[in-house]
Amino acid sequence: MRDTAIQVVNFSHFYGQQQSLKNLNLVIYRREILGIIGPARSGKSTFLTCLNRLNDLVPGSRVSGNILIDGQDIYQPEVEVAALRRQLGMVFATPVPLPMSIYDNVVFGPKLQGQTNRGELDRLVEDCLEKAGLWAEVKDRLKISALKLSGGQQQRLCLARVLALKPEYILLDEPTSGLDPISTMKIEDTLRLLKKDYTIILVTNNTKQAARVADRTAFFLMGELVEVNETGIIFTRPSDKRTENYIEGRFG
Ligand SMILES: Nc1ncnc2c1ncn2[C@@H]1O[C@H](COP(=O)(O)OP(=O)(O)O)[C@@H](O)[C@H]1O
Ligand SMILES: [Mg+2]
Repeated sequence: MRDTAIQVVNFSHFYGQQQSLKNLNLVIYRREILGIIGPARSGKSTFLTCLNRLNDLVPGSRVSGNILIDGQDIYQPEVEVAALRRQLGMVFATPVPLPMSIYDNVVFGPKLQGQTNRGELDRLVEDCLEKAGLWAEVKDRLKISALKLSGGQQQRLCLARVLALKPEYILLDEPTSGLDPISTMKIEDTLRLLKKDYTIILVTNNTKQAARVADRTAFFLMGELVEVNETGIIFTRPSDKRTENYIEGRFG
């Protein structure tokens, strides 16, 4: 039996009058990579931001149903949202490093949380950059501006910054959409290694990426979860005609 990490039960989301997620039911297992595919405006990004409650920040945002993370209903009033957002770190499509050194980018969050021990911060920087697949490329120039890195390196730095906050979940929203194929491959290699320690949800507008790295894949369409299954099955024997059409590139 696989270990359930997240349970989504009859979950809907609305922006004002407009429903963006329609009665989703889904289980996410611990230490899997769940790929989420689907055309633009299917609700993929909205789903990610419901998991870490970033959506609370959008005026008119409203939910119904339940999301249980490690057994806790995250929309209950006692949930501490800042802690939740640390637990579910998020990487966005466009890497936005802070305009400071590589080193300072990684320690920025931990320092805000009160970590000051220099030795510990040094170790954290090495550990997070190593896990993000960037250490070998930058270890001799940690003090240069992060803005001097290539786009692919900046994205891995953003991943290292997320890891520095010690999350259990990593949410990625089209993290390679702006990257060249080699940088994309490095991120994919990194994700394969990270899944040993983290539960990963990867939204991708590139179905081939889901086929390459996701253990299971979910297909979203117009706010609906059409189907979710082992990636191999989704890509060879989907049960819904709409999934087949999307995978074969007939729309989106
Ligand atoms: N901040 C927002 N305010 C109002 N509507 C939004 C907002 N963000 C997204 N939407 C709407 O919600 C639906 C789902 O969007 P989104 O989650 O961004 O889809 P995807 O990531 O699959 O492209 C779309 O119809 C979109 O227009
Ligand atoms: Mg999106």
